[in-house]
Amino acid sequence: MSDVLTYAIILAAGRGERMLANKNKMLLEIGGNSLLELCLTRFQENECIDHIFAVVASEDILPDNQSEIEQKDKLEEKYPKLASLVAGGKTRQDSVYNGLEAVKKHAADYCGRVLVLIHDGARCFVPSAVLESVTDALKTERCAVVAAVPVTDTIRQISDCRLEDLQVPREHLWQMQTPQAADLDILLHAFAHADQEGFLATDDIALLLRIGYPVRVVRGDRRNIKLTTPDDFEMARLLYETEYFKE
Ligand code: CTP
Ligand code: MG
Repeated sequence: MSDVLTYAIILAAGRGERMLANKNKMLLEIGGNSLLELCLTRFQENECIDHIFAVVASEDILPDNQSEIEQKDKLEEKYPKLASLVAGGKTRQDSVYNGLEAVKKHAADYCGRVLVLIHDGARCFVPSAVLESVTDALKTERCAVVAAVPVTDTIRQISDCRLEDLQVPREHLWQMQTPQAADLDILLHAFAHADQEGFLATDDIALLLRIGYPVRVVRGDRRNIKLTTPDDFEMARLLYETEYFKE
């Protein structure tokens, strides 16, 4: 498989509004490391990944009086696979697009297949088995790949806090996680198409489905949670004390 280069784009340029932390949640720390660093560690340590781009908001990586260059050097030293930091955009979709453009430049002289795993930095505990399943599926089939888990709760529709008499059958319902991944050229095409149509989505698979590209689901993991609210963070802190997130 020497003709394949695998990139990860780690998204950390959101505002974390639902976390109510008065700062980007990716800067919150668990066990002395920021969520961004916890996530970078997962990708750094995984053999499937060749290069990483982290998409960040520039105001977030300039704490205290460190210069941008110092901060960038520090991270790149700690995480040798980190090719560079990339400035985020207004929406998640814009941030991914900026990451894809950075990958495109970095891989410009490469002749083999370029695979890209797009990952929510807020899923900072992604197990390595999930990264492996996604990359393995991507290498063996010409399709996009998404990690997902089956819904386990009973799902009903509500309207204005009242239950409607509608129970959504659970068998076919899965929760989408990240990584969401595909070949670079396919992703660039899907994003350009979405841009032309003014189509905005909360994940990348929606854009691939929109161009009719096949998407395969691989098993994600319940530990691959997206830290979104203060409850999620509190739970993650408690679980981190146990061995829950270790594989
Ligand atoms: N993200 C990003 N650029 C944006 C918006 C989101 O890189 N313009 C990233 C976030 O940092 C996060 C991931 O996309 O890792 C998933 O988004 P979400 O969980 O919604 O994070 P936030 O947008 O930061 O949170 P909120 O929606 O509560 O403000
Ligand atoms: Mg958001």
